[in-house]
Amino acid sequence: MAPDKGGQAMAVGIFDSGLGGLTVLDAVARRLPDVPFVYFGDNAHAPYGVRTPDDIFNLTCAAVERLWAEGCDLVILACNTASAAALKRMQDTWVPPNKRVLGVFVPLIEALTERQWGDNSPPREVAVKHVALFATPATVASRAFQRELAFRAIGVDVEAQPCAGVVDAIEQGDELLAEALVRSHVESLKRRMPHPEAAILGCTHYPLMQRAFQEALGPGVKVFSQANLVAESLADYLQRRPEFRGAGTQSKFLTTGDPAYVSDKATQFLRRPIRFEAA
Ligand code: DGL
Repeated sequence: MAPDKGGQAMAVGIFDSGLGGLTVLDAVARRLPDVPFVYFGDNAHAPYGVRTPDDIFNLTCAAVERLWAEGCDLVILACNTASAAALKRMQDTWVPPNKRVLGVFVPLIEALTERQWGDNSPPREVAVKHVALFATPATVASRAFQRELAFRAIGVDVEAQPCAGVVDAIEQGDELLAEALVRSHVESLKRRMPHPEAAILGCTHYPLMQRAFQEALGPGVKVFSQANLVAESLADYLQRRPEFRGAGTQSKFLTTGDPAYVSDKATQFLRRPIRFEAA
């Protein structure tokens, strides 16, 4: 790999409001072992899922600017809430032409609707008809998932469940509470849609509770989560746009929260040692 023009290390940035994006980071780092990644967790301001779109836009822009300062010209919003509530506005009004900010929604919807990257053909019928969406209140309120789905598929019935409290419980390291909340959110969803064929974990924190979701949903429900789908899609993007890949060797973890506390919780959930530094 050649250094970029300024000779500055250029890694890829991964952003989330907190710990959830680490599920995406793990998958992209496995898929692209030569690419250095800088992770930014805005733990001081998590959860985003109960904030207004303006607030989410401002916080996400500040975090992305910090990643640009680390030499990451390409930043992945590994946060559905930011992808749903802020990404389009960022791309339309704020991101300069020499930078890229990409979200985590589209790869998931392409997988669900059996499409290759960039297949913009008209919407068509797909195999799944009843889909349960689990996401934060802000993501559910944005209806971004339904909008992206409607571009690609017809006749899919989506029942969305805002999962209040789950991100908070995870950020606080309270696995028992997070599991109990997952069970109760799945029960509420099932009262409205008793037999979903597929379930989308539409928040990057939720794969940390994937077992609880699968158990509550039952073995017949296919659970889609984003990490591996985003990893494939990033590998594909970097192949098509190699100018966004540089020579940096510095992977690091930045947080707006207390680095010792956040490192502790990250190590607990990812089950490997992770050291955060102050952003
Ligand atoms: N991981 C973020 C997402 O994917 C979390 C949201 C939050 O902070 O509420 O939506």
